[in-house]
Amino acid sequence: MNKYQAVAISLMTVFACARVPEAVFEDVPFSVLPCPVSVQTGSGYFEITGAPIYIDKAFDPSCRAVAEGFAGRLKQVSSMRNKVVPEPAGLSFIYQEMDAESYCLDVTEEGATILAGDRNGILYAVQTISQMLPSSFFSDTTSHTRYRLQSVSIKDSPHFKYRGLLIDSGRHFFPASEIKRCIDIMSVYKLNRLHWHLSEDQGWRIEIKSRSRLTQVGSVRRESQVGHWRDSLDHVQYGGFYSQEEVRDIVKYASDRGITVIPEIDLPGHMMSALAAYPELGCTGGPYEVATTWGVKKDVLCAGNEETFRFLEDVLTEVLELFPSEYINIGGDECPKARWEECPRCQAKIKELGLKDTDSHAAEQYLQSYVTNRIQAWLAERGRKIIGWEEIMQGELAPGATIMSWLGSAAGIKAAEKGFDAIMSPGEFMYIDRYQSEEWDAEPVSIGGFLPVEKLWSYNPYEGVTEEAKNHITGVQANLWTEFICTSDYLEYMLLPRLAGLSEVQWKAPEEKDYGRFRAALDHSRDIFEAMGYVYCKAPWGIVGMPSEERPARSPEELEEYLKTRPAPWAVSKEEGRKLFIVR
Ligand code: ACM
Ligand code: ZN
Repeated sequence: MNKYQAVAISLMTVFACARVPEAVFEDVPFSVLPCPVSVQTGSGYFEITGAPIYIDKAFDPSCRAVAEGFAGRLKQVSSMRNKVVPEPAGLSFIYQEMDAESYCLDVTEEGATILAGDRNGILYAVQTISQMLPSSFFSDTTSHTRYRLQSVSIKDSPHFKYRGLLIDSGRHFFPASEIKRCIDIMSVYKLNRLHWHLSEDQGWRIEIKSRSRLTQVGSVRRESQVGHWRDSLDHVQYGGFYSQEEVRDIVKYASDRGITVIPEIDLPGHMMSALAAYPELGCTGGPYEVATTWGVKKDVLCAGNEETFRFLEDVLTEVLELFPSEYINIGGDECPKARWEECPRCQAKIKELGLKDTDSHAAEQYLQSYVTNRIQAWLAERGRKIIGWEEIMQGELAPGATIMSWLGSAAGIKAAEKGFDAIMSPGEFMYIDRYQSEEWDAEPVSIGGFLPVEKLWSYNPYEGVTEEAKNHITGVQANLWTEFICTSDYLEYMLLPRLAGLSEVQWKAPEEKDYGRFRAALDHSRDIFEAMGYVYCKAPWGIVGMPSEERPARSPEELEEYLKTRPAPWAVSKEEGRKLFIVR
C-alpha cells in the first residue's frame, strides 16, 4: 500500500466511524410468556437488526410471509435492511418436520436459527424472539433502534391444542378495530382460537343477508342495564353489528396471526334478539323485544316448529361461508324449558320422538338434545363439528361433540371420561369478567367475584382427570363476557394482564409452570402493553383501580357526565364508518 492509499483508508475509517456510532443495546432478562418448554441461556449476543436473512425454500408461501413480515418489522424499527441471502446465515429460518405449532430457536454469537415445520411454529418463534427484545420493539413509534438477542437454545411446543379466548360481542359491541387489537395481543401470547360470541338475547351482531331483520331489528336494544339492579337502565338505545365484509376481514386478520375464529351462534336459548326479529320462531309467537337487562330469558326458539330449523340452517349457511373453522360453536347453555313445557308444538314433537322423562333428565332436556343432534348432523354433512356449552350433555348427546365446561370442571371431566373432547373454562378460574382487585369501589362495575391473574394462572386443567381421560382435555379457554364491559378500554383492562396468565395455563404442562418465573416475566409484559398502547389492570403492580379517564359510566347519572366529557366509543366508531349507533 502506498502512502496515499494508507491515508485514504484511514480517512474512510474515520468517516465510517463517524457515520455509524457505537451501537447501544438495551438488554432485558429472559421474560418470554408463555415460558418456553426448554430454555438454556448462554453468554454472548447476536445483533439481528441488519443481519442477513435466509428463508428455506422448503417453506410454503404462508410460512415465508411470516419470516418476511418479521424482516419487515426489523427494518421498520431499525431502518436497517435484512438482506435476503441464498444460504443459511445471520437470521435463518429452516424447515424441519416437527410436531404441529412447535419450533426450536438457537442463538449464538454467529447467528439465530429457527427450525419450524408449520406456519404457527414460525409465528411462535418470531413471537419468542420479539419478547426477548426490549419492549420498544412492539411500539409503532420506534425507529433507528438496534436490537440484539441473548444466546439461547429453546425447544418449544404447546401442551394444549386448543388455546382460546371468548369475546362476547353480544352484550356489548366492540368495533372491528378493537377485535383486531384483541387478536394482536392474543398472538403475542400464542393463543390460537378466538371464540367469537355473536348472538345474544341483548343483540344480534352478525349480518345474515337472507335474514336481514336479524340486524335491522335484532341488533338494537331500547336501553341497557348499567348496574346490578334490573331497574338501573340508561334509557339510551344501543346497537351495532359486523357486516359480512368486516367478518371476513377479521377472520383473515386472525388467520394471518395463527388464530382460527370460531363463531358462536347460541341456540336454542339466548335468542331474544332473533325472536324480536322473527317472533314466529318463539313458542308464544311474541311480541318480543331485544333484551335490555342481563340474565337468562324464558323465551327461546320453539323446538317443535320446523321453521326454527329452516331459520337455523339459513343462518348457519352464511356462517359457514364466512368462517372456515372446522368447529362451529352452537352454544346450548342456559335454555330454560318453561315455554317448551307449555307449548303444544314442542309437546307434540316430544310425543312424536317418543321422548320421556327419565331419572336423570326431563323429556324437554331430551328435546334440546334433539335440536343439538339435528344441527350437529346438518353441520357434519358440511364437514364441520360442534362445540357446545356443557348443558348439551344433558339428555342424549351424539358422539363427536366437544364440550365446553363452564360451571366448573366436573362436566369437562365427565365428558372426557365418556370419550368426548372437552375444553376447560370453569367460571372460578376462567371468567375474566370478574374483578381483579378486592377494592370494588375503585373498579368499574363488573359482574362480581374476584379473579386476579395469579388465581387464573394457578388453574390446573387436569385436576381430577384420570390418566386415560387426559387426552380428551384438548384445551383451555378464558371467557370475556361483557354485560358491564361497555367500552374498548374496559375490555382491554379486563383482558390484561390475565391473558398472560392464561397463556401459561394453555401452553405449559401444569407441573412445569413456575409462578416465580411467571411473575418476574410479567413485568416485561407490562412494558409491552405500554409500548402497544393497551389499557391494562395494574393491580399486580400495587396500583388498584381504573383511572377515571379510562372508566366507563357506572350509573345513569355518571353516564350523563361521561357522555358530556368524553368522546363516546360509538362516536369513534361512527368516524370509522362502523355500523354502531346510539340514539339518545
Ligand atoms: C355461560 O356462561 N352461560 C356459558
Ligand atoms: Zn314450542
